[in-house]
Amino acid sequence: MSTGSKMVFLEEGGGRSSLPAEPNVLLLVSGGIAAYKIPELVREFRREGAHVRCAMTESAKEFVSPLVLQTLSGEAVRISLLEPSEEGDIGHIDLADWADVVVVAPATANLMAKQALGIADDLVTTVLLATTAPIVLAPAMNVNMWENTSTIKNVKVLKERGVVFVGPEAGDLACGWQGMGRMSEASDIFRAAYGFHAPGSLKGERILVTAGGTREPIDPVRSLTNRSSGKMGYAVAKEAIRRGADVVLISAPTSLSAPEGVSLVAVETALEMRTAVKAEFEKSSALVMAAAVADFRPAVSETRKIKKEQVEGDTINLKLLRNPDILAEVSAIKNNRVVVGFAAESHNLVAAARKKIKSKGCDLLVANDISRSDAGFESDTNAVVFITPDGSIEELPLQTKQEVAGNILDRIKKLRLTR
Ligand code: PMT
Repeated sequence: MSTGSKMVFLEEGGGRSSLPAEPNVLLLVSGGIAAYKIPELVREFRREGAHVRCAMTESAKEFVSPLVLQTLSGEAVRISLLEPSEEGDIGHIDLADWADVVVVAPATANLMAKQALGIADDLVTTVLLATTAPIVLAPAMNVNMWENTSTIKNVKVLKERGVVFVGPEAGDLACGWQGMGRMSEASDIFRAAYGFHAPGSLKGERILVTAGGTREPIDPVRSLTNRSSGKMGYAVAKEAIRRGADVVLISAPTSLSAPEGVSLVAVETALEMRTAVKAEFEKSSALVMAAAVADFRPAVSETRKIKKEQVEGDTINLKLLRNPDILAEVSAIKNNRVVVGFAAESHNLVAAARKKIKSKGCDLLVANDISRSDAGFESDTNAVVFITPDGSIEELPLQTKQEVAGNILDRIKKLRLTR
């Protein structure tokens, strides 16, 4: 198993966001002995729910059977650019458009040279020129070919264009030489293609998530609360588990079941949530405060139900006390931990959130517009803007809360790598 591939992805492709849960993966195979590893790569993608289509160069057919790739992918394998029967099935431009990510494995020196020059003289190179999807290259060749100045120049050109390289690795080469040139293992190529989204990409991280709306009791029957359903925080917890993190979910009351694998800490009030967060924070590598924490609590919580007869006239005065700001408190002691807050705003979203991140001191603020019916409270979708401490923003399109969770976790992963 190699070690270098993930870092290459992070350096070169760290800016792109997560793939969809069931991405379209276009696997382009060129002619090298390492093509024998491609069936395993197809299986890895399929196991994770990806849709896989394969296209190969004429020479690749000598190293791996198109029938094997067709059987494993469940899709016809494309080889020829000009074959009407193949084009009829799915045209080469449609194929290029279809892909959420394009993986070239093995990528020969010849193929990379053509790609660097923009040559499109067969199906594989034409698709590479036509696609706008992220491209991941897994080179494989003799060490001298890899170290040749032409190849070095081509790799530089491709990296500058944002192509992600995974490998090659050092070791015994098929040509009998030793050195750099072995294609990375299928599992490493798979992880590079998925990026941070890969299952297991958060292994070793302990992520603390808060969710739901706190409930501040007035008496044993009544309380002050808000509309939070917990869906956003639970989605973060679920996605973090899927990516291999240890997850502690501190939840105010919701009607949701805790995702399998999380350690659930049930709380009611903001003060209880604060105690629970503080108890878990030190042991964690990241905190995501998705909970809607009440800013105020009744100064007195009656132990017995307040009777109507006790109230004189038509009004009752409720004295409220300010609750501690949990996010600001833990941000002040975070050290190398990553702290993510949310901002529930009904207007001037970005301006308000920029102000908020300054007062909270967290690493990332996820601002959502709670005036929309398809975002914020209770909905299954959310439209968020990421704000960083320097005030820069990234606006995400409307996504499921699970997808928003994935994007938050991508950011956390990136921040963790810089600490
Ligand atoms: O639960 P859902 O129905 O899925 O809805 C999701 C959501 C709208 C609740 C969620 O996306 C969201 O925006 N959560 C934060 C809500 C909130 O309390 O926003 P705020 O702008 O008032 O607070 C800013 C941040 O400070 C939040 O991270 C909050 O958790 C935190 N906070 C607030 C008050 C307080 N006393 N202590 C805190 O830590």
